[in-house]
Parts: sequence; structure tokens; C-alpha cells
Amino acid sequence: MYNDNPTLKGISKEIDEKKQGEVFFQGTDAKTGKHFYIESYGCQMNFSDSEIVASILAGEGYSPTRNMEESDLILINTCSIREKAEDTVRKRLRIFDKVKSNRPGTIVGVLGCMAERLKQKFLEEEKLVDLVVGPDAYRDLPKLIGTAEEGDKGINVFLSREETYADISPLRLGTNGVSAFISIMRGCDNMCSFCVVPFTRGRERSRNAFSIVAEATDLYEKGYREVTLLGQNVDSYKWENPESKNVVNFAHLLERVAKIHPDLRIRFSTSHPKDITDEVLHTMAAYENICKYIHLPVQSGNSRVLKLMNRTYDREWYKERVESIYRIMPDCAISSDIIAGFCTETEEEHQDSLSMVEWANYSMSYMFFYSERPGTLAHRKYEDDIPLAIKKRRLQEIIRLQNQVSFRHNQADIGKTFKVLIEGDSKKSDQEFKGRNSQNKMIVFPKKEGLKAGDYVQVKVHEATSATLKGELVG
Ligand code: SAH
Ligand code: SF4
Ligand code: F3S
Repeated sequence: MYNDNPTLKGISKEIDEKKQGEVFFQGTDAKTGKHFYIESYGCQMNFSDSEIVASILAGEGYSPTRNMEESDLILINTCSIREKAEDTVRKRLRIFDKVKSNRPGTIVGVLGCMAERLKQKFLEEEKLVDLVVGPDAYRDLPKLIGTAEEGDKGINVFLSREETYADISPLRLGTNGVSAFISIMRGCDNMCSFCVVPFTRGRERSRNAFSIVAEATDLYEKGYREVTLLGQNVDSYKWENPESKNVVNFAHLLERVAKIHPDLRIRFSTSHPKDITDEVLHTMAAYENICKYIHLPVQSGNSRVLKLMNRTYDREWYKERVESIYRIMPDCAISSDIIAGFCTETEEEHQDSLSMVEWANYSMSYMFFYSERPGTLAHRKYEDDIPLAIKKRRLQEIIRLQNQVSFRHNQADIGKTFKVLIEGDSKKSDQEFKGRNSQNKMIVFPKKEGLKAGDYVQVKVHEATSATLKGELVG
């Protein structure tokens, strides 16, 4: 999901770290008009936002390009989650500076979480940046670009309580034509003490349920076969129909999207252990097309640390949620996010994170060492007292164990047959397809004539590493 992420690769529905900074492009025949170039970092939400930005720019006559040297507008959609994420962005800005010096008149804009966090300071620190635009201000881009064209700096970092971009139809970029993201909410009202997101994305708000169903229906009709519903905490999705006063919660929303068509797969991210309800789990179980996979970040396996993190659940609560998932959906895969070396974490407490990886039997995890973020609760209240070398050693221990657990999890799939949605050619060979099963595991298998991306097939697994399954078509 993040570019500074020393995690397992492969079995992931989140943005693959190799894809970080991926340049979005769609064939364009625009011989007239201007071009924009956009790079995206951070979470799926940022990638999804870039598609909203692209749509707004297209409305202004801009076409996307893969070549920053020929673009009139260079944009970078940024992430602030860890220090390393911000370092990456600053490095990219040095490259953009060079392009700009060779091509005066090019406008360089910083979007997203880092723009929101640093605000005006960005324009002072980075002299060649022309635009600083926060996540809720993208509608203002045309006006801000106009300001920059006149030689002034354009900045809008206003955070909204209402903006959901519900009416903007995203311009799908870098798409495989099979899977797409749909933002169902924005912001976050949880105050996890380590996390910068509430400050960069503002208050939580849910998008109009009808607009979500309409977007998913439209994607299905265009040939897409998988949608991922996105929010920082999807389980707190709540939208009240202003006319009927009916309240749509996440379980209801899942059901509405699942009913669009049995061939449209539904995924979602991220679930919060404190909010995920049995109602959601039963809805998942009731619909074959709701994928049996839950990303349920634990952050720490120790109750004292969880309290310091302000996660509002403890180890026992988390375990109960995991047990409920496996009870209601025995074939469900669970993945996690884990932070090593949070303030004051002892060796015994670190052991609790390790034992959780083993106990919960995660199919995969995103693992990080704690990176203090300015302005967060932890920054203000606690000392970042675990030496870097110890944080890194603990992280390595978690990664090593998760690798073993993932390997075991995948080995257990050998001999099983899964329904796989073909996404395209495998990375290694154009003689092979890749696709995912419901549990979000990537499966690679030899092609057969007549099959294409977007088709469902049955694949029997005969080989497994900690990252990928290999199999062959059956039936
Ligand atoms: N909303 C999601 C996560 C968003 S951030 C959730 O609640 O789970 C993605 C992940 O980055 C987090 O789950 C956490 O594991 C990690 N993360 C966030 N802040 C961090 C920090 N300051 N240092 C290290 N990792 C962090
Ligand atoms: Fe950050 Fe916590 Fe909100 Fe996730 S739930 S975005 S970790 S504050
Ligand atoms: Fe990063 Fe912002 Fe997402 S801080 S993880 S891009 S919400």
C-alpha cells in the first residue's frame, strides 16, 4: 500500500509497492490542448483521488501523458503516513525541478496529504512548486491553475465536512479494465495516536449510497468485474437518505452493491476491529460475490500498547472479532497492518505482536516500524524512545514470522480449486495469466485460447510460495 513499506509482496489487493508513483496514462488522441502528468503515492484512496483529479482536468481540456517532459502540468499526489513517504516525494520534486528549468512555464503542483500537512510551508520550502492543493480542494484546481499561469502561487488546503466528489465520475487511469476503486467515504474520526490521517484528510463523511451503486453499475456495464470500496474505516460508513430518512450502514451498502450482478466482485478496505459488525460478516457470507477477505489491521498484539495507540480495542476484543470471522466464514482470509517499536513498547509486548501473527493466521501483513509524525497525539504525549536499531530488529522478526505464516497459509491451498478472476498476463510470461481468488491471493496459471482478462475460471493450485500460488485450469 505504501512505497516505504518493507513488507511481503504479492498477495495483496493494496497498491503493490512497485506500483508506487505509477504514472497514470490513458491513450489519448488529443493533438490540441494541454497535457498533465500525475504520479501517486500512498494508499488506494490517493490513487482513487488521482482519478477524480484526472476527471476534473479532462473537463478543462487536459489530456493525460506518460511523459513529464511534454506536460504542461506536473502533479504529485502525496502521502504523509511515515517520514520515508515524505522523503520520497521530496526526491521526486528535485526531478520535477529539473524538468521545469528546461521547460519554463510548466506548472508543478503538490496534491494530497503532504500538501495538507505542510500547507503554506511547502511553497516556502519548495521554491519551484506552483500549486499546493489539499484532498478536499480538487474542484478548485482549474482556478488555481489559472492563478499559477498568471505567475502567482495557488494554494487551497481547506478541509471540508461535506465534500465526497460524489457527482464526479473518475477518469480511470492505469486501468486493467477489470478492477476499479470506488471511494465510499472520506476522512477519519478515529484518533489513533500514531496517525496523521485525521489531520490530512479531515472529518469522516460518507458518500451518497445511490451514487456509489450507480458508479459500480456503470463499471459493471463497461466490463469491469471487481470493485473495491474504499474508506479509512469502512465499517463506520453511514449515510442518511435526506428524503426517506433511511440510514444505510456498511452492511446495507455491501448488499446493495452485491445485488448489482453476481459476476461483479466486491472487495473493501479498510476494516476497523472496533467497528466491524457481525451484520457485515453475515452479509459477506450471504453473497458469493462479496470476497472472503478482510484487511483487519491489529497494529499491536498487546493491550497496553493498543491503549497508548488509542485503538479503542484490546487484544481480547481483537481475538473475538477474528474468531467471529472464521466462525461465520471458515474460508475467509485475514490480513493485517502491524507497527513495530511504538513508544515504550517492551520486548514482551513485541512478543505479543508476534504471537498474534501466528494466532490470527494472517494470509499477509503490511509491517512498519514506528515513524513519529508531527502534530499527532503520540508526538505530543509520548517519547519516541525505542532506538531505530531495535525498531528495525523487531520489524524484521515480525516480517520473518509473517513470511512463514503466509507460506503455510498458501501451502494449505495446494490441491484446492478456486474461482479466479483473470486480471491479465502474469508479470513473468505472456503465456500465463494472473488473477485472484476470493481470498485475494494471486494465482498464476498457463493460458488457454479463448480466455481473456475479466473472465472467471476454475484453477487448481499445485504449487505455492509465501507470495503466489501456481495452478492449472480445470473444468
Ligand atoms: N485506516 C487504516 C490505516 C491507514 S494508514 C486503519 O485504521 O487501519 C495505514 C497503516 O499505516 C496503518 O494501519 C498503520 O499500520 C501504518 N501507520 C500509520 N501511521 C504510522 C506511523 N506513524 N508509523 C508507522 N506506521 C504507521
Ligand atoms: Fe489513522 Fe486510525 Fe484513522 Fe486508520 S483509523 S486512518 S490508523 S486514525
Ligand atoms: Fe498516506 Fe494520506 Fe493515504 S497520509 S496513507 S495518502 S490518507
